[in-house]
Amino acid sequence: MDTSGNPRRRASPPGHGPGILLVVLLATATAWPADARAAAQEDPSPAPLGGDAEREAFLLEGEVVKDEPAPRGITFPRFVTLRRGEYEHRAVVQTRDEYRSRFTTGSRTELDFRDSWRHNVAAYRLDRLLGQGLVPVAVVREYRRKPAAWSWFVDNLLMSDRERFEQEMPPAKPLAWICQRDVVRVFDQLIYNFDRTRENLLIDEHWQIWMIDHGRAFKFFADLRNEEELPARCEKHLLAGLRRLDRPVLEKTMEGLLEDRQIDGLLARRDTIVRIYDDAIAARGESAVLYEVPPRLVSTAERH
Ligand SMILES: Nc1ncnc2c1ncn2[C@@H]1O[C@H](COP(=O)(O)OP(=O)(O)O)[C@@H](O)[C@H]1O
Ligand SMILES: [Mg+2]
Repeated sequence: MDTSGNPRRRASPPGHGPGILLVVLLATATAWPADARAAAQEDPSPAPLGGDAEREAFLLEGEVVKDEPAPRGITFPRFVTLRRGEYEHRAVVQTRDEYRSRFTTGSRTELDFRDSWRHNVAAYRLDRLLGQGLVPVAVVREYRRKPAAWSWFVDNLLMSDRERFEQEMPPAKPLAWICQRDVVRVFDQLIYNFDRTRENLLIDEHWQIWMIDHGRAFKFFADLRNEEELPARCEKHLLAGLRRLDRPVLEKTMEGLLEDRQIDGLLARRDTIVRIYDDAIAARGESAVLYEVPPRLVSTAERH
C-alpha cells in the first residue's frame, strides 16, 4: 500500500553516515544487546501505579492538591499534584492549542503551524500502538474549564538530554542508548516532529529516554521532514507496529486529537518509512537492519 503520493524513493539503504559507532558496537553484540537487557531486568518502575491503565485512571480521577507553573520551558505548562487515596503524583498539564496555516517569525515561515495539547495525548497513544513505551502516559482532562493534556510526571530523572550534552557526559549504557535514540528518530519522522530539542528528551535513573512535548508535531505533510535522520536500523517491534497501523484504528484512537488530514499525512509517512526499511532489508538482510529492544514495562501488553 502506498498512499503517500511521494515520488521520492530511496535508491540505497538509509543511514550510512552517522552510524559508525553503532556499527562498531553492533559488530560485537547479539541481536539483543546485553546492556539493554540488563537495563530491563532492573525493573525500572518501582511506582505503585506501574501500568498505563492505572496511570490513566489516576490522571483522570486524582484530586488536585497543588498547582504551580513549570519552572522551565517555553509554553510553561502547569505542574499539578494529584492525590487518590494515599497516593500522590504530579501531572504536567498543557492547554495550549494553536493553529495557523502559515506562521512567520523574522525571515522564517512555518507552514501548517500547530502547537496543541492534543498532540501530547496523540503521541502517547501512537507510541503504545507501536509497542514502544517512550512517551509518558497522557489523558484528556479539563483544566480550569479548558480542554487539556495531563501527562504523567516522570520521576527519578537524571537530567534532560540538553544537560547531558552540555556536560559532555557519555551515556552510561551506550548500546541501549543508541537503540533508544534510534527509536526516537524513527518516531519523530513518523509524526513530523518540529520540536525535538534536547530539552524534550528526558533521561531517567536507568538511562531510559522519555519523549515529551509533542505539541508541534503531526503536520499533515506526506513527505518525511528529514529522511536522512532515519537510522540505518529499525527496532523490530517498531517496524511491525508501523506495518500494523491502519486508518480505522487511527481514526478511533485519535478521535478529537488529530484531524483526518493529519492522519493522512501520518499514514503516508508510515508508508515511506516502511518502504525504506523494506528496501534496506532486501539489500542487507533482516539481521543487519532489525534489532530488538526489550519491552519497557508500560508497553509490554501492546506487543505482538
Ligand atoms: N512528563 C514529564 N515528566 C517530567 N518533567 C516534564 C514532563 N513534561 C515536561 N516536563 C518538564 O517541564 C518542562 C516544560 O515542559 P514542556 O512540555 O517541554 O513544555 P514547553 O517546552 O512547551 O514549555 C520540560 O522541559 C521538562 O523539564
Ligand atoms: Mg519543551
